[in-house]
Amino acid sequence: MTDAHKLKIALVGCGGIAQAHWKGIQAHSPRIHVTAVVDTDAQRADAMAEQTGATPFTSLADALAQGDFAAVDILLPHALHEEAATLAFAAGKHVVLEKPMAHTLESAQRILTAAKKAGTVFMVAEQAQYWPDARAVRELIESGTIGEIITARAFFGGPVRPGSGGPRPWRYDLAMAGGGITMDGGAHWIRPLRMWLGEIEEVVAVTGRPLVEMDGESLARSILRFRSGVVAVLDTLTAGVAMGPGEEFRVTGTLGEILVEKGRGGRVLLFDSENPGGKVISGQKDEGRAAAFGYELNDFAGAVLDGTALEASPEYSLGELRTAFAIYRSAESRQWEKVWE
Ligand SMILES: NC(=O)c1ccc[n+]([C@@H]2O[C@H](COP(=O)([O-])OP(=O)(O)OC[C@H]3O[C@@H](n4cnc5c(N)ncnc54)[C@H](O)[C@@H]3O)[C@@H](O)[C@H]2O)c1
Repeated sequence: MTDAHKLKIALVGCGGIAQAHWKGIQAHSPRIHVTAVVDTDAQRADAMAEQTGATPFTSLADALAQGDFAAVDILLPHALHEEAATLAFAAGKHVVLEKPMAHTLESAQRILTAAKKAGTVFMVAEQAQYWPDARAVRELIESGTIGEIITARAFFGGPVRPGSGGPRPWRYDLAMAGGGITMDGGAHWIRPLRMWLGEIEEVVAVTGRPLVEMDGESLARSILRFRSGVVAVLDTLTAGVAMGPGEEFRVTGTLGEILVEKGRGGRVLLFDSENPGGKVISGQKDEGRAAAFGYELNDFAGAVLDGTALEASPEYSLGELRTAFAIYRSAESRQWEKVWE
């Protein structure tokens, strides 16, 4: 493919998730060409430039003024999303922005307004939308394999990767992160539930802070009531300790149950009358969930280059953040809290 048919992009923030995006681009996004890399830490920018062959910058403003790209991929701590996205939109760039959209709902709303004004493509990178296991479960549900959904259970747990940024990791700082584990990694567990069960109406939750170093919650036990009336349970937990195996998702229907295993890149099992001992629906083929970063960026490239619709609009992608904030409100109020009002 000639460069003229490619989407030139700048990676903004060269930390942990930038590596996953770069690997995804190399493996699954042949239409993306990384031409600029930006990090306020010059060493990180230079190292990423060496890896990618792109031009390094130490500020987005410099990259926008001097770089050659049509889109930016924002991979920054949450409280920095708005400033970077707004700058990029003002420069007429297309924007793909790592989840969560922002550290507050007000900030997310301002980003959406800036995107509308720019009229360019805007996508929130929520790779769970493209997880092979989440798609396999959706197909099973849509084909009626487990009948009517009765209930579901999701568990997200494990170590938090603190990230970089000074003596105290930014993820531990509420002002920078905006919340704890539920709005961060928990988002990847909320998205599949929404893909399978529809929109969440209201939540009731209790939160805690077993990981005392982190300002935000490191434990949340939540009940989610969907618009369909189905009720599901979402658990998020990081306690800074080793954790044992278990399932990540369990969806129970009138004809059987689907299980997504933990720690196997999302192995999907079906239990029904024909398979009472369980049947493996999808295994650990290819790269499993890691490939999803490439698929999501490919979706973004298609939207920019071909005008195709994104799998999930930015307005839809606000759902994980709205759910997390409803969980936080419920933990305070001890009441059911609406997600979208
Ligand atoms: N989708 C996922 O599975 C996943 C996983 C991890 C992180 N994330 C998201 O990715 C984003 C970044 O997280 P991370 O773990 O990569 O963080 P990180 O701390 O590893 O990397 C952030 C980078 O941004 C740089 N930076 C800070 N301020 C900057 C600025 N103003 N301009 C340019 N560079 C700046 C830092 O020097 C650092 O290199 C967050 O939104 C986070 O929630 C998503």
